[in-house]
Amino acid sequence: MMRRKLAAGNWKMNGTSAALAELEYLALQHPAPTVDILICPPSTLLTQAAAQSGSIAIGAQDCHANTSGAHTGDISAEMISDSGATAVILGHSERREDHDETSEQVRAKARAAHAAGLTAIICLGESEAQRDAANTLDIIAGQLAISTPDTATASNTVIAYEPIWAIGTGRVPTIEQIIEVHDFIREKLIERFGADIGDAIPLLYGGSVKPSNAAEIFTVANVDGALVGGASLKAEDFSPIISALE
Ligand code: G3P
Repeated sequence: MMRRKLAAGNWKMNGTSAALAELEYLALQHPAPTVDILICPPSTLLTQAAAQSGSIAIGAQDCHANTSGAHTGDISAEMISDSGATAVILGHSERREDHDETSEQVRAKARAAHAAGLTAIICLGESEAQRDAANTLDIIAGQLAISTPDTATASNTVIAYEPIWAIGTGRVPTIEQIIEVHDFIREKLIERFGADIGDAIPLLYGGSVKPSNAAEIFTVANVDGALVGGASLKAEDFSPIISALE
């Protein structure tokens, strides 16, 4: 099965308009990429980024589950789509932690994203304590089942596995650990959505992906790309990660 490959960058709460120069530089370095490239800047930059990103797609980092209304500070999936962005990261562990987001809420947001024509990048991941207690697969199974809506297809959904203890720490799971979780997610997706959809939904690994470790991580059969934080902020770091996927 040939799945879409995706190098996605999550800028998190980093970047003012000056950071768009990095995007421009990245687009210049990859004018005709053979994999999908996505940058998710803060929402303040979405419109500007989408207008000048060339071959690079733009995504947001969260959306509200409702289409409009009295939700001060939130943005809807339709607003994101209107900005020119085509994707949205949902259920990142930082949102699950900082904003007490539940998998039920993530599912409602993913449904809203799909209705607005966006690709939902649904994030899953265990804490270090959960891994130490040998609960990783149970946690992943629960998050995956509840966070993924029935509206998921191979073209509107991406699943990102981000072990919380690997995010921003420089610690990366072993290749065997990545294989175990990604194979498990694949199995669960096929079980629920059938082989056609379940086998075609791209799976990303996220957590301390760097130019130095990307190529090895990309050797894993069920790793179709990466969701990169710190190393996506500078084109000189992100570009070699893209090249490793190509
Ligand atoms: O969403 C990507 C992220 O959580 C990984 O961050 O800085 O470890 O690459 P980082």
